[in-house]
Amino acid sequence: MHFPRITHLLLLVASFIVTNAQDTSLAAVKAAFDEANLPEDIFFTFDPTVLLEVTLPQTSGKDIVLHAGIHVPRNDTAGPPSFAIGGEAGNGPFVVAAIDPDAPTPQDPTDAEIRHFLGGNFFTLRGGEPERLTNTTPAISEFRQPTPPVGSPAHRYTFLLFHQPLGFNSQTLVNSTTSVELFNLSSFAEATGLGQPIGGTFMLVAPEPTT
Ligand SMILES: *[C@@H]1O[C@H](CO)[C@@H](O)[C@H](O)[C@H]1NC(C)=O
Ligand SMILES: *[C@@H]1O[C@H](CO)[C@@H](O)[C@H](O)[C@H]1NC(C)=O
Ligand SMILES: *[C@@H]1O[C@H](CO)[C@@H](O)[C@H](O)[C@H]1NC(C)=O
Repeated sequence: MHFPRITHLLLLVASFIVTNAQDTSLAAVKAAFDEANLPEDIFFTFDPTVLLEVTLPQTSGKDIVLHAGIHVPRNDTAGPPSFAIGGEAGNGPFVVAAIDPDAPTPQDPTDAEIRHFLGGNFFTLRGGEPERLTNTTPAISEFRQPTPPVGSPAHRYTFLLFHQPLGFNSQTLVNSTTSVELFNLSSFAEATGLGQPIGGTFMLVAPEPTT
């Protein structure tokens, strides 16, 4: 009679581990990016020196902390995400960007990249590990929920962390009214002096199942 309860408890523990399996290893994050062909497809070399922790708040149940390559149901991606840094990167400021290189489909990404988030002036809140990031200004592009079109395989929604260069706040290439389509974060990073990302992670999100 006790077996069902034990099984239930084990399942609860297992789901806790799964939903809270954030990135813990730089090598594993890099390997996941390489395996997903991400560095090539987003035109960056990706040699992370810190972990970027991305948390998606949930209206019911536990918040979802991403690890590189996690599958997240589209319905759980409303956000807006919060960010933290694992490792030593200084106080900031930092820039966080999120892009979809797979729009409308990974096979034919003619609208890519879609800019899903772009924000600067993030600083670390000292005292936690990972250290939470707070943003002192509105984002340049507020978070857009993933909306992969019906029939598409899952898209790779990719979050990247950069040191913010001096003068970044005066950039005029992108503002809140600039189209989010056909963005090239790599060329934006070159033009604004962001350079290469110091951390990142990504989630795979498939279209909402149609009923
Ligand atoms: C998705 O979320 C909406 C409300 O945000 C809800 O009405 C709907 O049932 C959810 N769909 C699934 C498949 O969970
Ligand atoms: C956004 O940038 C465009 C040019 O790219 C400019 O015409 C527009 O005035 C800018 N909007 C704001 C709110 O700064
Ligand atoms: C994006 O910009 C990079 C330069 O940083 C360039 O190599 C690449 O071809 C561009 N991608 C597209 C799709 O234009």
